[in-house]
Amino acid sequence: ASAAFADGLPPLAQKDTYRVGFAQMESNNPWRIAESKSFVDTAESCGWELIATDAAGSAAKQVADVESMIAQGIDVLFLPPREEKPLIPAVKRAQAAGIPTFLVDRSVDPNAAVAGVDFVAFLGSDFIKQGQQVAEWTIANFKGEKGVIVELEGTTGSSPANDRRSGFDDAIAADPRFEIVASQTGDFARDMGRQVMETLLQAHPDVNIVYAHNDEMAIGAIQALELAGRKPGEDVMIVSIDGTRDALQAIIDGKMGVTVESSPFFGPLACETMKRYAAGETIEPWVQVSDRIFTVENAADHIDEAY
Ligand code: AHR
Repeated sequence: ASAAFADGLPPLAQKDTYRVGFAQMESNNPWRIAESKSFVDTAESCGWELIATDAAGSAAKQVADVESMIAQGIDVLFLPPREEKPLIPAVKRAQAAGIPTFLVDRSVDPNAAVAGVDFVAFLGSDFIKQGQQVAEWTIANFKGEKGVIVELEGTTGSSPANDRRSGFDDAIAADPRFEIVASQTGDFARDMGRQVMETLLQAHPDVNIVYAHNDEMAIGAIQALELAGRKPGEDVMIVSIDGTRDALQAIIDGKMGVTVESSPFFGPLACETMKRYAAGETIEPWVQVSDRIFTVENAADHIDEAY
């Protein structure tokens, strides 16, 4: 091993081709599909022989997928852990098998596995900041006297759900006009977002702000509100995160206020980071992705590049 690799981190040789594992968690929304496509699209130019799996929404299957990749002798692992805790043993096993492991888009519990020690690095967005930015936009743009908020949370136990909640909740608490009256998981899925919104609307008919942890749930909430005769964008402000095509269209149509970007296009960054690592560079524990904010000011300029 070269001295450039930190103690305990497996070395990676410089070569023309690599067997690369990408263990996707699910493919039930446009964001996940765009992320998987980004890895497939990067494979040839980066010299990857890509082994890609889909855990179909099961952390247990994702663990089994990683184990199968270890058995197949991959050189490098890219892993978006569905939830913060269940994937930790698999991450540690990959590293113990000498496979440099990069977490992409989601991270694991930092008290149980540490970047730069138990895996090489986390590549991804600042989810706390995303939540804060949504709260700041809401505070600046809500014109009413009392903001009654329903929060649709992402997958329970996932890093984006935990961090988008704390980022938003802490920032919105600074303005006494706002109250979060209900916060419930919609599992980052459109259908579940719609169903949860239908139920919460009955308990809280005075809701006038919906904060969804991702655009799919925001679109589901819009459907539920419209079915109930409400007017998203007029009597209910919808704020969210991701930047999908449907969300940008909803902004253009006046139904949604803001979506803070969370880019799914990790392939090129994964390639570049892996090559830097193979060249012996010390990789920063968090390779941070910076995100834009989409509102009525710029949604039309970006919809053509959206997914
Ligand atoms: O981890 C990122 C989140 O996961 C995206 O915001 C969401 O749409 C996806 O399922």
